[in-house]
Amino acid sequence: MYPALQKELETYQKRTPESHEAHARAMARVPIGVGSNYRYYPPYPLFVSDGKGSRIHDVDGNEYLDHNLCYGALFAGHCHPAVMKAVEERLRIGTLFGMPHGLELELADEICARFPVEMVRFGNSGSEVTMHALRLARAVTGRGKLIKMEGGYHGGHDAISVSVKPKEGQFGDPEHPTPVVSSLGVLKGTADATLVAPFNNLPAVERLFEEHPNEIAALLVEPIMMNIAFCMPDEGYLQGLRELTSKYGAMFIMDEVKTGGKLAYGGACEYFSVKPDIICLGKSIGGGFSIAAFAASRDVMAVIANQKMFHAGTYNTNPVVMAASLATFREVLTREAFAYVGGLNDKLVSGYQTIIKKAGLIAYADGAGANGALMFYPQRVRNYRDWYHVDEDIWTHYWFAMVNRGILAQPYWWDEQWTVSVQHTEADIQEHLQVFAEIAPALAAAQEERMTVGPLGTHAS
Ligand SMILES: Cc1ncc(COP(=O)(O)O)c(C=O)c1O
Repeated sequence: MYPALQKELETYQKRTPESHEAHARAMARVPIGVGSNYRYYPPYPLFVSDGKGSRIHDVDGNEYLDHNLCYGALFAGHCHPAVMKAVEERLRIGTLFGMPHGLELELADEICARFPVEMVRFGNSGSEVTMHALRLARAVTGRGKLIKMEGGYHGGHDAISVSVKPKEGQFGDPEHPTPVVSSLGVLKGTADATLVAPFNNLPAVERLFEEHPNEIAALLVEPIMMNIAFCMPDEGYLQGLRELTSKYGAMFIMDEVKTGGKLAYGGACEYFSVKPDIICLGKSIGGGFSIAAFAASRDVMAVIANQKMFHAGTYNTNPVVMAASLATFREVLTREAFAYVGGLNDKLVSGYQTIIKKAGLIAYADGAGANGALMFYPQRVRNYRDWYHVDEDIWTHYWFAMVNRGILAQPYWWDEQWTVSVQHTEADIQEHLQVFAEIAPALAAAQEERMTVGPLGTHAS
């Protein structure tokens, strides 16, 4: 760790003693003191007291401009008035029945009106719906194997807990990555059923189909890889995946858990003009409440409709979260809102680019819809192997320096990205950029110093 980074960490600790204490207490009862592994980072995470609009406060009373927004689940921002109103009204008339109530049809109608699908089933988290989407693909095709992208994250279940963050020495040939199980406890055989391809590489996908004829049920892809910061598909790449999956009789599943409620009115399907067989939605479609969905054509969903495939859940279509999601679709995720947020995000991305250039940083910023990221890498990241070489120390320096000046630029970890919400303003974006401009010279100096003593970056852990 170099001195400028050390100094930012010390400042962080000085500003946040209550978070430190809260975390130390939580560690006694909650593994690593957090409810989801991603939320932990050293020396300890910020503990939050409240949030409204584009801002949150930590338990020490520090205010932050929030671009974490719960890992991109809050295109609506905090406590959006339309969502709050819908939830408050719904709370008074019953919270949970485990029986149909009509809102599921209304919400399914909203989804089918903007995505190229005809039927919808709901769940509570992205993990749940990617799991069921895979089961659906297996049920429809009668096949077992799956192709996912190296570095792709689709939740916590076994089938996709493969090659999420594989390391050098494990991950093999970049053209033909070795599937690497990413957690203890995942059945070893999982890696045999989950094949791994590099993103933005159609020949590598075709090779997998040729090597496993009639065995592959589905290809699952996040249209913009947002678990390696921000990695756009090459022109025509998603269309190429569409063609290959059709050619080899597999289901094309697009994981729109992040893009669905943030990239465009009709998600990545609309943005990239592509029609997958199954889509998965989550995060921002709930406006701050836990809802997710998988959706497909009537033909594909027939296996559930004729009760050959099982999908169930006590909390599915909870009326409170359905009310929140309906209000979100109707009053938050509007075409006007996407234009507004997209405009702010464009300003943020181009502002970053200008500052990067002026400071002489070896980095670049990219974004689309409500999301973007700063990546300490000399050119556009095209796949996991590129992202693997992002300079994590400089990134850590950036993140803490921004936090110490009141900007939560994105969730912690350099595989994440920022989100802009409908409640962010032009002034928020200017404030964010002003702080980045303030710290950029120190980042450039640290980068230059490190270049003289070693290679660019270390590897992500
Ligand atoms: C693309 C993608 N799919 C699925 C998931 C899993 O969603 P959840 O955390 O709601 O289970 C995530 C979570 O970050 C994600 O980014």
